[in-house]
Amino acid sequence: MPGVERFRVEGGGRLQGEVRVTGAKNSVLKLMAAALLAEGESTIVDVPAILDTEIMAELLRRLGCGVELDQATDGGPGAGGSVRIDVPAVPGHEADYDLVRRMRASICVLGPLLARCGQVSVARPGGDNIGSRPLDMHISGLERLGATIETEHGFIVAKAPRGLTGAQVWLDFPSVGATENILMAAVLAKGTTVIDNAAREPEIVDLCFMLEQMGAKIGGAGTSTLEIQGTDRLTPTRHVSVPDRIVAGTWAYAATMTRGDVFVRNGRAEHLEIALDKLVRSGATVERVAPGEGDEGGFRVRMDERPKAVDVVTLPFPGFATDLLPMVLALNSVADGAAMVTENVFEARFMFVDELARLGADVRTDGHHCVVRGKERLSGAPVRAHDIRAGAGLIMAGLVSDGVTTVSDAYHVDRGYPGFAEQLRSLGVDVTRETDPDALLEG
Ligand code: EPU
Repeated sequence: MPGVERFRVEGGGRLQGEVRVTGAKNSVLKLMAAALLAEGESTIVDVPAILDTEIMAELLRRLGCGVELDQATDGGPGAGGSVRIDVPAVPGHEADYDLVRRMRASICVLGPLLARCGQVSVARPGGDNIGSRPLDMHISGLERLGATIETEHGFIVAKAPRGLTGAQVWLDFPSVGATENILMAAVLAKGTTVIDNAAREPEIVDLCFMLEQMGAKIGGAGTSTLEIQGTDRLTPTRHVSVPDRIVAGTWAYAATMTRGDVFVRNGRAEHLEIALDKLVRSGATVERVAPGEGDEGGFRVRMDERPKAVDVVTLPFPGFATDLLPMVLALNSVADGAAMVTENVFEARFMFVDELARLGADVRTDGHHCVVRGKERLSGAPVRAHDIRAGAGLIMAGLVSDGVTTVSDAYHVDRGYPGFAEQLRSLGVDVTRETDPDALLEG
């Protein structure tokens, strides 16, 4: 049950060994939504065993799809599962608040359902622990394609009874979610859509690949201009998700902070160029292993000394990912020297800083800047995870703290990291889960 479990992290120890990353949460969720675009059975492979894929599976079931989520983790949490989605000729078109509030990525069914059904009602997600996260670009982009959109009784209600028509769309900011919703609507629109200032994240490229396999015509994947020729009908497909660069990056930072040595199998260094370059500047060695015959490849991160502090500015891809912000703050909190970390994507991401300060970190924020002055060690204490990445960052900070750190609200971490504690133990550190006595008192 949410909130009832917490992580218990014994400070000390270094990460050593090998860990595999599965397909990316932020790709798989959108690929599952993309399946709605074609009647019949699509399969997504290398699906992580996390809470969010379960929520998305439930959402698709409620839309009338047959969904078989195979999260068999016989090979450990690093072994990906698969999901088969059987989409009916006429899917449902309403996504309820009880699922949307548990996972705001549910909003990614807006574009595909509007394109397939000509109407859709998706509950509007409320506030969020990393920022206000408006949906204006999703809405204005779909309006450009001819939809009429209103908010009624907490739902975004979009209608296009005569279908969508291709158009030129300019995004004010390269929003990942807005790019995906407009793209998934445009593939079934009449004529050509051009999305300018589109997001370029590897997960967008992955979505374009899957849509192309389904029969869509898309030019410019991975660039900031996407050109989509609409088509009448798409066909189901089977697609292997791109590996999770944020989970891979988390392992890279954890290895560096704990002065460890970790091979991240299936990690794609080319999706983490700036993040890995920061680790090299910090003193780590990063070795890339290209995929070979029957071998997925990956990268190895090794560190023998105290890391040096590194300045970071988060930006949309190919910039430094905002989802790795907690990891770089945790690293700098035990690094040699001081660093400035600037967050440009989500205004509330620095909520994490107050928890890090409870572990004794010398951190000071001013607007969207944070100055971190490194200390030799932090000091274990009870802290709380506010979101997925903050939870992982606090567990990492606990590993470089004296004594025991507990991280409550473990369910946040379960949303994005398959078997995180189990994987950490397999790398030789002492991280377990336990009932949170405070949560029981609250409950
Ligand atoms: N924004 C607007 N209006 C919009 C859409 C976005 O102002 O209509 C703003 C947001 O408020 C934010 C910025 O644009 O300040 C970027 O938001 P974006 O739309 O790119 O993010 P998202 O699609 O909501 C995805 C990931 C996040 C990741 C961001 C940025 C998923 C499910 N979520 O969110 O991942 O941080 O892109 O890379 O793909 C996570 O996995 O923990 C996570 C939060």
